[in-house]
Amino acid sequence: MIIAQTALAEAAAMSTGLGLNVPPERSLPAVFADPASQAVQAMLDRLAPTDAMLLIIGETGTGKEMAARYVHAQSRRRSGPFLAVNCGALSDTLAEAELFGHEKGAFTGAVRAQRGWFEAASGGTLLLDEIGDLPLPLQVKLLRVLQEREVTRLGSRVATPINVRVIAATNVDLHSAIAEKRFREDLYFRLNVATITLPPLRERKGALPILAQHFVKLYGDRLGRPNIRISSDALVRLACHAWPGNIRELENVIHNAVLLTHGEMIQSGHLQLMPPPQEISRGADPLEPSLRVLFQKAIQDGAPNLFARVERTLVQSAFDLADGNQVRAAEYLGVSRNTLRRQLSHMGILPLRRRVVSG
Ligand SMILES: Nc1ncnc2c1ncn2[C@@H]1O[C@H](COP(=O)(O)OP(=O)(O)OP(=O)(O)O)[C@@H](O)[C@H]1O
Ligand SMILES: [Mg+2]
Repeated sequence: MIIAQTALAEAAAMSTGLGLNVPPERSLPAVFADPASQAVQAMLDRLAPTDAMLLIIGETGTGKEMAARYVHAQSRRRSGPFLAVNCGALSDTLAEAELFGHEKGAFTGAVRAQRGWFEAASGGTLLLDEIGDLPLPLQVKLLRVLQEREVTRLGSRVATPINVRVIAATNVDLHSAIAEKRFREDLYFRLNVATITLPPLRERKGALPILAQHFVKLYGDRLGRPNIRISSDALVRLACHAWPGNIRELENVIHNAVLLTHGEMIQSGHLQLMPPPQEISRGADPLEPSLRVLFQKAIQDGAPNLFARVERTLVQSAFDLADGNQVRAAEYLGVSRNTLRRQLSHMGILPLRRRVVSG
């Protein structure tokens, strides 16, 4: 296992002109455990000292911000600030002022001059997170700033040179965004100097046991349970999951399991895994996950006669939804009308039909 202890503690101590601190829980070591992750680490190590602009691509929770922090911590800017701005959360009206700063009186409410993210990150690294969500008008302005390496505050005519390393990250496919005219191609080419693609966790399952143990240790220590461990059946269960939320999902599942476990061993039953949406859309029965959850709850509550009660609810619901029409109710349930009649009779919803024997 390779655990890269980053110098983020330094960054954590730092505050910026925007009054932001890097929260201490962000100063976690990055784990690069399997060949795919190690290839990513090698690339990050190679690029970190170069000061080149980076574009980090990956699904949600794959560690894009973690990778950006890792690069910062390995770079010669490591003693400068690391700031992350969520481009999707920039308000439409104030976005330009937030990014590039403004002078006093530049707009209503601008009671004093304020530096923007680019100036605040001076000497360090600025992560433009969710770059794919940056409003189009700002994309043009960002392109100019990146090309000219200077910013002009709103309400000013004086350009200030910038001294930041820019890292952009996205979980949206920028090629489709370009095709749909939501993202400027020229900005894409400007950002795309060196691209790092973080593989989803389902493609680096070899990393699962080490990552899981890493989070068990992290949360065990944090919660005053340093001896807690994870069982091999729990690890097998983790390996069977599809991890649509990637490393963040794994981290949350383990954190939760540490909280749920009374003893010192996390068992598979302590893992609260959500059914992955892909399984539902891949033709699996969409009813199944909800029924499963209800079923588990009923078992936990110790509800008796579950089979009979589920059957009754199904038949009664179909009968009600069909306004008492037996043919339609039978269709809804996918059974013959005779089967339905028998069920209805057993349940006392219809009187039992007596066979008339003649003769
Ligand atoms: N290689 C890794 N080693 C250890 N922890 C990791 C690693 N990669 C990610 N994590 C952890 O997983 C969580 C999610 O990572 P991060 O926030 O960097 O993902 P992201 O790709 O930026 O997600 P999003 O797209 O949702 O913003 C964080 O708590 C981070 O500490
Ligand atoms: Mg992120």
